[in-house]
Amino acid sequence: MAWCNTGMDLALDQLSVDGVSYTRNDNLLGKGGFGVVFSGYGSDGSNVAIKYQFICERNPKDRLLEEYRIHRDLTKSDTHGHVVRFIGMDETPKSISFVLELAPQSLFDKLKARSVTPEDAQNYFHSLINGIQFMHSKMYVHCDVKPENLLICDGTLKIADFGKAKKMGNKNQKYKNGECIGTKEYAAPELWKEQNVQGQPLDIWCAGIVLLQLTQSPLEFRAVADNSDKKYARWVELAKGGKQTRADFCYKFKPATTALLKRMLSEEPGHRISIEGIKQDPCFTGETAVRKRKATGNTVKAAKKGKN
Ligand SMILES: Nc1ncnc2c1ncn2[C@@H]1O[C@H](COP(=O)(O)OP(=O)(O)OP(=O)(O)O)[C@@H](O)[C@H]1O
Ligand SMILES: [Mg+2]
Repeated sequence: MAWCNTGMDLALDQLSVDGVSYTRNDNLLGKGGFGVVFSGYGSDGSNVAIKYQFICERNPKDRLLEEYRIHRDLTKSDTHGHVVRFIGMDETPKSISFVLELAPQSLFDKLKARSVTPEDAQNYFHSLINGIQFMHSKMYVHCDVKPENLLICDGTLKIADFGKAKKMGNKNQKYKNGECIGTKEYAAPELWKEQNVQGQPLDIWCAGIVLLQLTQSPLEFRAVADNSDKKYARWVELAKGGKQTRADFCYKFKPATTALLKRMLSEEPGHRISIEGIKQDPCFTGETAVRKRKATGNTVKAAKKGKN
């Protein structure tokens, strides 16, 4: 971790944003690769989080300013609370700090504490998919969706940490694979195979891993999607129609969940389900495949009756 006391001394204890001054508490909320997040308070009485990031060769200022612009722009157009609210930014020559909406917990904390109920899991998954859809509609890809970057504010899941996010010039834009590996356990298989990759399927893969963690208990499955990983190889076999055994990590899933997981965690990005497809899937809508078949059957029967 690049942060050390010297780094902290170079960051601001008090920040000023739009006439409000923000002061940090000693309560450390989290640590990232090149920074720290503390809770704080504003002179207007608000409680906030302050994310300090230290500028260095591996964490260049340009990238931090890009994160700032993306988070600020998304917050501006976010009328539904899909992303953690960006309040403002302040800087010193050595650091850039963001003032953010304070989230009491992350999804990682909740999974670790095993306190996610099936109802929470459904709600969080809905918020995650709607949040990713919102980002993509604004022409951004996140590239680092994982429980540590999904925060829970008033019971609602919101997307945070836009440190790896990218603007899409068009929906088919390709990026160099190295630019898109946020966290290797959440990185889609094409990132290990191809030099250039599209952004949107990467976020869908990550959301698939999060669904896996939400529906199976916790943080057990974090296979790396390259061919040398045994757990991943088993998954590919299963997803291609191989037989499921108790040894497979997903033996605990309901059939509707396994069916959606197979489509979200499809090895081929071109075959991976789209966000629109996920939103129509019985696992997302809560309608089971059987009920759906019955309903369709009844409609067909009713239509036949009507004709006679
Ligand atoms: N707004 C917030 N409210 C509460 N906690 C937060 C907030 N933002 C971040 N955190 C906590 O701090 C951790 C690190 O934050 P974040 O992921 O934004 O930093 P990062 O430096 O970009 O991380 P990494 O380098 O690991 O991706 C989060 O996982 C979370 O636990
Ligand atoms: Mg992070």
